[in-house]
Amino acid sequence: MECVATTAFGIEAVLKRELIKLGFDIKRSSNGRIYFETDVSGIIGANLHLRTAERVYVVLGSQKVKSFDELFDWMVELPLERYLHQKGRFIVNAKSSKSTLFSLRDIQSIGKKALIKRLQKHYGVERFPETAESYGLLLNLQNDVAELWLDTSGAALHKRGYRKQTGSAPLKETLAAAMVLLSHYGKDRTLYDPFCGSGTIPIEAAMIAKNIAPGLNRNFAFQRFFWVSKDDYNTARRNALKQIKHESIAPIVASDVDPGVIRSAKENAEHAGVDEAINFEIADFSHQNFSAASPVFITNPPYGERMGEEEVARLYKGLGKLLRKHKDASFYILTPVSGVEQLMGKKPSRTRVLFNGPIKTRLYQYIGPPPKK
Ligand SMILES: C[S@@+](CC[C@H](N)C(=O)[O-])C[C@H]1O[C@@H](n2cnc3c(N)ncnc32)[C@H](O)[C@@H]1O
Repeated sequence: MECVATTAFGIEAVLKRELIKLGFDIKRSSNGRIYFETDVSGIIGANLHLRTAERVYVVLGSQKVKSFDELFDWMVELPLERYLHQKGRFIVNAKSSKSTLFSLRDIQSIGKKALIKRLQKHYGVERFPETAESYGLLLNLQNDVAELWLDTSGAALHKRGYRKQTGSAPLKETLAAAMVLLSHYGKDRTLYDPFCGSGTIPIEAAMIAKNIAPGLNRNFAFQRFFWVSKDDYNTARRNALKQIKHESIAPIVASDVDPGVIRSAKENAEHAGVDEAINFEIADFSHQNFSAASPVFITNPPYGERMGEEEVARLYKGLGKLLRKHKDASFYILTPVSGVEQLMGKKPSRTRVLFNGPIKTRLYQYIGPPPKK
C-alpha cells in the first residue's frame, strides 16, 4: 500500500529520518508529506512509533482531474470496498490548492456521491445505514491531481494521551519531539528546560531516551477497520512495550517559575510513565544554577501580548548571559518573538522556521562542542 505521513512545515526532514530508521521505503516527499510503501503491520507500526507525524493515511488512488465529472468517474472505479465496510460511516473532507476544482463543499459532496455509488454497485444495496465505524477520507487536490486518502490515525498523533493539563501556551508534542530529535541530546547528557510549562519537551525527551513509543497511551482509527487484525495490533503493542529501555539516564531537569504549571507537568509526566526520569523544580531561570557538564538546553521561553517589550528584552538578554556562561552547552531555543538574536548577543549556528500549529516560530540552534568522554 502507498501511505503518506503528514507533518508540520519545517519538520519533514526529521519525519523522513524517523521513517527510514523504522525501516520504511520512502517514495517521495513534498511540503508536509512523506510518501512511503508499507503493509498493514507497517501502518500499525507507523502510528505507534512515529514521534513527529501528525497523521498516517493510506493513499487509495490518485488521478489528474479538471472537472467534477472526471472526479466522479475516477472515484467510482476505485476498489473502495477493499477498505470501507458496508456499514461504515463515511466522512469525506477536501483540500485544494492550485487546482481547477476549488470549491471544497462541491469536491466533498461529489466525492461522497461517487463513494456511495461505488459501494452500491459492489454490495448490491441502495441504502447505507452509516451506523458502524467511521472512516475519515480526505480528497486532496494539488495542481489538478486528486488523491483520495484514508485516515488510519483518527485523532491527530500529537495527541499522545498523557497531557491532561497544559499551561497557557503549550507546544505540540510532535514539535517538542522534533526539537529533541534535531538537537544533540542523548540519554547520557543532562537536559535542561528552564521554561518547561506543561513539561512537553522534557516528557518527549524522556520518552525518546527510554525508547517509549509515543502511541502506547491512545487509540487509533485503524483499530476499528475490518482489514486490520486485533492480533497484529496487540503483537505490535507488546513488542513496543518490550523495546522500552529501563536503565537510568542522565538527569532531565524541568523547571518553571509557576508552581501551578509544575504541578501539571508532574501529572503529565506520570501519565506518560516518565515522572521518575525528570527532576521538577520551581525556579526563576535567572537565579538557577545549571551545574551539569556539557548540558543541552531545549526550551520554549514565554512570549505573547501580556509580555511588555522591556520584559521580553530582559528575558532574552538573560538567556544571552546563560549562553555565554555555559560554553560547553548546546542551546535550542524556540520562539515566535523576532529579533531575539540581537538581544541574546550571539549568532546561532543555525536557525530553522517551524510552526507550532498556526504560530510561526524560529528554532535558534547554538551548537556547543561535543561532550568530553
Ligand atoms: C511558552 S511557555 C512554555 C510552554 C511549554 N513548552 C509547554 O509545552 O507547555 C513559557 C513558560 O515560561 C514560564 N516562565 C516565564 N518567566 C519565567 C522565568 N523568569 N523563569 C522560569 N520560567 C518562566 C511560564 O510560566 C511558562 O510556563
